[in-house]
Amino acid sequence: MYQAPRGTQDKLPEDQAYWKYVEDTAAEVAALYHYSRLDTPVFEDSGLFIRGVGEGTDIVEKEMYTFNDLGGSSVTLRPEGTAPVCRAYVEHGMSNLPQPVKLYYIMSIFRYERPQAGRMRQFHQFGFEALGESSALLDAEVIDMSCCFYKKLGLKDLTLLVNNIGCPECRPAYLKTLRDYYRDHLGEMCEDCKNRFEKNVLRLLDCKKPNCKVLADNAPKSIEHLCDECSAHFAALTKRLDQLKLDYVIDHRLVRGLDYYTKTVFEIQPLIEGAQSTIGGGGRYDKLIEELGGKPTEGVGFATGLERVILNLKRAGIEPPKSDKPDVFVIWCGENTLDMAGHITSALRENGVPVATVYSPRSMKAQMRQANTFGSRYVIIIGESEAENKNYTFKDMQNNTQETLTEEELLKRLS
Ligand code: HAM
Repeated sequence: MYQAPRGTQDKLPEDQAYWKYVEDTAAEVAALYHYSRLDTPVFEDSGLFIRGVGEGTDIVEKEMYTFNDLGGSSVTLRPEGTAPVCRAYVEHGMSNLPQPVKLYYIMSIFRYERPQAGRMRQFHQFGFEALGESSALLDAEVIDMSCCFYKKLGLKDLTLLVNNIGCPECRPAYLKTLRDYYRDHLGEMCEDCKNRFEKNVLRLLDCKKPNCKVLADNAPKSIEHLCDECSAHFAALTKRLDQLKLDYVIDHRLVRGLDYYTKTVFEIQPLIEGAQSTIGGGGRYDKLIEELGGKPTEGVGFATGLERVILNLKRAGIEPPKSDKPDVFVIWCGENTLDMAGHITSALRENGVPVATVYSPRSMKAQMRQANTFGSRYVIIIGESEAENKNYTFKDMQNNTQETLTEEELLKRLS
């Protein structure tokens, strides 16, 4: 038999309440911070990600689902949402709107990664991007909004890590200092880090291997090599985070896996450690839109993986709210009961009441069992005596009460 492709999963009916809960909360938080929804295509011109995310990144080097379509164009299933949002901002002339333009998305994302718990090849992100504003107050608001999302869901015990990785002004000198430091330790590094040393020395800082971790702990810190503008930006950010009473840790090893970041980077991690445990991350990307061919436009944003959010909700024992709609099961059993059952089922649905029933004769016991499996709050029973008297036995399964009602009374009660 066929199975879902490795690293993908079906969103089963029993999990839909979790999905609804996180997506509704995302939309609620987006509205609170004045973000509008944007949906972009599932695939884009491959060049958008090669230029946007960066050629030396794991995503572009090893993880993209890229193929030539039948017209011979190279397209890629989106491996992240920021570059597509920036593309749409430029394409639709959003620089003419009042700035910053604030956009959010809930979308499927594709990365050819080694699957494990919380690491998928098709997953979903809630992300938001604010474009056209350079103030650190906006970085702080984006961080605040990220925390607000988790708080509204009931997730606790999260750690907020922040760092500033500089800008094209100050980063080259910092990278040189970093490379000089690592050059003296090449023999102590893992093979991956040795390969990254020339191509992307910043990434050496977030290697999880024990030896490399020690090296990274002692490495020169970017925040000690910032230009005046980046320093002032970082000071303004931390001041505002303090005012917002957000707990944060300055982590000089935090660099993120995408090339477009400038100045602020941040991540939110649950207490349980692990390479795939980061629940969300983001930062500022002031050069990305220009890199993609637009006018110089600053940006800052965040994205969180919804599968990881749901995993954390389940670990914390947080259940999504139950639907408050009364759920009714119509049982019919005996001669001449089918027409009455069909009639009341339609009448209830017309009145907006969700109803389930059976379609071929079954014993009363079997139907009661089915109503229990569905968790139906109410059961309507139509047996031979009900059919004769043109009334209904109405059972409230929660309160364990039972009464006899006419059709009119029944509709009034349930609508
Ligand atoms: P990212 O850190 O690559 O950032 O992904 C954001 C989040 O997506 C991660 O923290 C994680 O929760 C989730 N995620 C990533 N990979 C996987 C996977 N293979 N399986 C399940 N979940 C995963 C970005 O994508 C940036 N675009 C974020 C951003 C927005 N920066 C600025 N604006």
